[in-house]
Amino acid sequence: MTRASNSQATTREQPRVVRLAAEDDFDGWRDAARRLASAKISPDAVVWQVGEDSADLFGTEQELPSAPSGELRVPRAFIELAQAAVLHRDPGRFSLLYRLLVHLGENSGLIEDHADPLVRRIEGLAKAVRRDMHKMRAFVRFRELDGTFVAWFEPEHHVVRANAGFFVRRFSTMRWSILTPEISLHWDGAALREGPGADRSQAPDGDVLEEVWKAYYASIFNPARLKVSAMLKEMPRRYWKNMPEAQLIAPLIAGAQAREATMTAQVVAPTERGITLDGLRKEADACRRCPLWKDATQCVFGEGPPDARIVVVGEQPGDEEDRAGHPFVGPAGQVLARAMEEAGLDRGRIYLTNAVKHFKFVLRGKRRIHQTPNAGEIDACRWWLDQEIGLLRPAATVMLGASAVRSVTGRTGAVGALRGKGVTLAHGIGVVSYHPSYILRQPDREAAREAEAALVADLKRAADEAK
Ligand code: URA
Repeated sequence: MTRASNSQATTREQPRVVRLAAEDDFDGWRDAARRLASAKISPDAVVWQVGEDSADLFGTEQELPSAPSGELRVPRAFIELAQAAVLHRDPGRFSLLYRLLVHLGENSGLIEDHADPLVRRIEGLAKAVRRDMHKMRAFVRFRELDGTFVAWFEPEHHVVRANAGFFVRRFSTMRWSILTPEISLHWDGAALREGPGADRSQAPDGDVLEEVWKAYYASIFNPARLKVSAMLKEMPRRYWKNMPEAQLIAPLIAGAQAREATMTAQVVAPTERGITLDGLRKEADACRRCPLWKDATQCVFGEGPPDARIVVVGEQPGDEEDRAGHPFVGPAGQVLARAMEEAGLDRGRIYLTNAVKHFKFVLRGKRRIHQTPNAGEIDACRWWLDQEIGLLRPAATVMLGASAVRSVTGRTGAVGALRGKGVTLAHGIGVVSYHPSYILRQPDREAAREAEAALVADLKRAADEAK
């Protein structure tokens, strides 16, 4: 295949310097690349620089050619590849991408040629960036500092800004800062600000929840699944220093064989794993992960025997639960108790809990009107539910309503559509069913009877799993 471009410039001419605003300036690169490609400027005649870097010794600063009037058509796959590859730390990335863009003008099918050295090289850059984005999402650890959650992270590539949306969505109700050497992100619950890079010493390195997190990690660490090489691949050593649980990795690996034998015999009680449900309950009393604690009377944690085989997850405590401090004691709890009885389940053998542990409401006169928790509140509270389930390791987890489904599986969608489909969870199976309040809200008896029969059938299914 020939790659001669009919450029006006020759490599003997002084290359032109194109200056981009930032290391991750995809829009700036795209705009410049469109203009240069339309003016048929050779890739060899362009030097790409970022910010105030001193001009290339052999390059000259020139105005960019004017923008083309028509669209420059490029394959969609190229845009996606370029958006990722631009974030790579390799200083040659802008130039490589421009070179590929010029070649695509001659042969748009080139993007599909994964054996082509240029395509392969750029795919490699994009892959490394995607991996780094994933690592940041997985390994950022927040520590509480005066009501704000602060994390320190050292990315390999320029992925911080590109990942900001993920953290805003995931932790929308918390105030947080992510500090990195090049840039810092600050979310105050409503707006995202950017600040300059920071130093590791500016991030706190301990808080009250750290011990809980370490204990949790120890409890979910499954020695039977331990593959050290795979683990190192997923959690490279360079991230360990900022992750509290990493301090546990060496002793956990060392103790893995002994623990595997114990687990195989299935005689490990939650208490032997160093943390109890009571301990968690006390920690949750002080939870400030979202603002719901401010108006609620108290945290309503899960309740039930530590060896329960079935966990039932509701949405959040209601008015009565908030006052009493126990889950499912109000009207919805009565419907649930009736359905459990009909399904042949002993309520005393079941662990009852909620996706969100504080009552969310608005005051109307003297009445406290239930408000559905939002995604951020559910996600913030998932911390606790994960630990409850991690300790209990139930055979079946029944999710009552959409909030429970989101909390346990991360999925969204109508309960009716998810019902009846077994969900495989890290511990046992998941059963989706109607929330008892939904049954109470049905407009007529027949509809309520049908919904309740469905709940009973789902509880029976959980009971079968737990046998
Ligand atoms: N609704 C729930 O989801 N949980 C309770 O604890 C009470 C009502």
